[in-house]
Amino acid sequence: MRNGNNIILFGPPGAGKGTQAEKLSAALGIPVLGTGNMLRAVAQQGTPLGIGIRERIEAGRFVEDELINQMVFERARRPECARGVILDGYPRTVAQARTLDNELPMGSYPHIINLAVDDDALVQRLAGRRYAPTSKRVYHIHHNPPRIAGICDVSGEALSTRKDDEPGVIRERLAIYHRTTAPVLGYYGIRVMEVDGMAPINDVFNAILTSLGLWRAA
Ligand code: AP5
Repeated sequence: MRNGNNIILFGPPGAGKGTQAEKLSAALGIPVLGTGNMLRAVAQQGTPLGIGIRERIEAGRFVEDELINQMVFERARRPECARGVILDGYPRTVAQARTLDNELPMGSYPHIINLAVDDDALVQRLAGRRYAPTSKRVYHIHHNPPRIAGICDVSGEALSTRKDDEPGVIRERLAIYHRTTAPVLGYYGIRVMEVDGMAPINDVFNAILTSLGLWRAA
C-alpha cells in the first residue's frame, strides 16, 4: 500500500459506500478498491474458490480475513493505485484494520469516513437497490433511478437484484455489521470523520468533500 491519498469509506450494508466511492473516484481521479465487487468477480469464475465465496456472500457471511487482505494488497500495489485508493468495504474486522495499519508506510494515515444510516433506512435501501452486473453501476428504484426503468444508463444492460439483498440475508448482514464491523470504529477512535449518510446522495457527497477539506459547489 502506497503513501498516497487513501480514503476508507466505512458504514453498514446499504449506507452508500459504493455510491459515494464511484463519485469520489470520478472527482479525485483515484481508483476504488471495493472488496464486495472484487469477491463477486472471483465468485463469477465458478472455480472451487469462487463457489465457496459465492455461498458465503449469498448467506451474508464474511470471507476469511487472510484472503481479503491478500486480494486488497495485491491490487493496491498496482501502478494505477500509486496516488492513493478509495477503500469500499475494507477493513470490516478489527483484524483487517490492524493488518492495514501494518501495511501502510510509516506516518501514512488514511482518511476514514463513516456513513451513519439508521437500520430501517438500510433495509429500505437494500430492498430497492438494483445493479448492473457489467458496468457495476448501482441504482435505487426511488432514490437514484436509471433514466429508463430496469436499464443501466451507462451500459444499456438489464439491471439485477443481489441475492444478499433478500430480507433474511439483509437481517444477517446487519447483525454481523453490529457485532463484527462496528468495533472497527472504536479501533480508529478520533481518526473517524462522521458523515450523515441519511441525507440525499449529493448532500452526502458534499459532506464527504468537506470532511476531506475539498468542498466544491455541486
Ligand atoms: P459489499 O458489496 O461490500 O456489501 P456491503 O458492505 O454490505 O455494502 P453494500 O454494497 O450492500 O452497500 P453500500 O454501502 O455500498 O451501499 P450502496 O452504495 O450500494 O460486500 C458484499 C459481501 O462480500 C459481504 O457481505 C461479505 O460477505 C463479503 N465481503 C466484502 N468485503 C469483505 C471484507 N472486507 N471482509 C470479509 N468479507 C467481505 O447503496 C445502497 C442502496 O442505497 C443503493 O440502491 C443506492 O442507490 C441507495 N443509496 C445510496 N446512498 C443513498 C442516499 N444517500 N439516500 C438514498 N438512497 C441511497
